Amino acid sequence: MPKHIILDTDPGIDDSLAILLALASPELALDGISTIHGNVSTAQTTTNALSILELANASHVPVYKGCDLPLVKESLLSPETHGDTGLGYAKLSAPQAQAQAQHACDFLIEKIMSSPDEITLVAIGPLTNVALAIRKEPHIIQKVKEVLIMGGAIRHQGNTTPLAEFNTYVDPHAAHIVFHSGMPIILTPLDVTYQCIFLKEDLDRLLKIDSPITKFISDATRFYMEFHDEYQKIDGCVINDPMTLALTFMPEICDYEELYVDVDISTGVGLGNTFADFYNYDKKAPNMKVALGVRPRMFMELFLERMEKLAKSIS
Ligand code: RIB
Ligand code: CA
Repeated sequence: MPKHIILDTDPGIDDSLAILLALASPELALDGISTIHGNVSTAQTTTNALSILELANASHVPVYKGCDLPLVKESLLSPETHGDTGLGYAKLSAPQAQAQAQHACDFLIEKIMSSPDEITLVAIGPLTNVALAIRKEPHIIQKVKEVLIMGGAIRHQGNTTPLAEFNTYVDPHAAHIVFHSGMPIILTPLDVTYQCIFLKEDLDRLLKIDSPITKFISDATRFYMEFHDEYQKIDGCVINDPMTLALTFMPEICDYEELYVDVDISTGVGLGNTFADFYNYDKKAPNMKVALGVRPRMFMELFLERMEKLAKSIS
């Protein structure tokens, strides 16, 4: 039986790769996509999600538009990282399908409440939708099967401020609500995603297959690689989101620790910083499993194999 997942996402170049990996993985049933602001506006992330689904002949997957703004902070987008459209140099045709009328938060609540202990929520953008869904219907905390979150930096430096990762920096108050909700969280921070670099030779391997999928991946990741080179002197690009998605059906890619993790919502330089109480100074019970070890090539081989298979199926 496939694992039923909902993807809460801000596509976004690496988000788009996570959507493709979900579609290419028979272990998963993608029940819906909820979109959020982050890499680009929610209007744009919604259009992108619809276009990516059409690219992969998966327009049957419903898309639900989410919140346009963080809970408290001003909106922060990252066109320098993902391009003005959010998909780098990739040009996808405008989607035929439209988003559902239901708000993303109401979709998350309805789906989780109607299928207790069956839904895996994979949150790979700022956590605004998830936080509001918790506030509107706290019972989803007990009813959700598990919540995989791409976000935070525990021992690793930030990628948006010296201390903070993008998703927790864009909406730290939402992250605070989710982290302290009691939901069964598995966190995938930069500590492990920064070891999963999509290299030029990985892209060259995919380009051996002539397909709209490989052309999209090439056009999208070329922009992402240029960003990583210019801003972080990284040869390749960090594909945070598909790595998080892969843990839903291949958790052995990572090693985990049960930790108490918090997020800084003060107004100082640490805003959005995530930190773990490794020595349990505060004597608080762990609130999540944190991926701190990773087998990068196990993930990358899985990703490349699944992209090759998907590309061969889409001409
Ligand atoms: O910090 C990386 C995360 O922020 C990824 O999910 C990326 O898509 C952006 O949302
Ligand atoms: Ca993302």
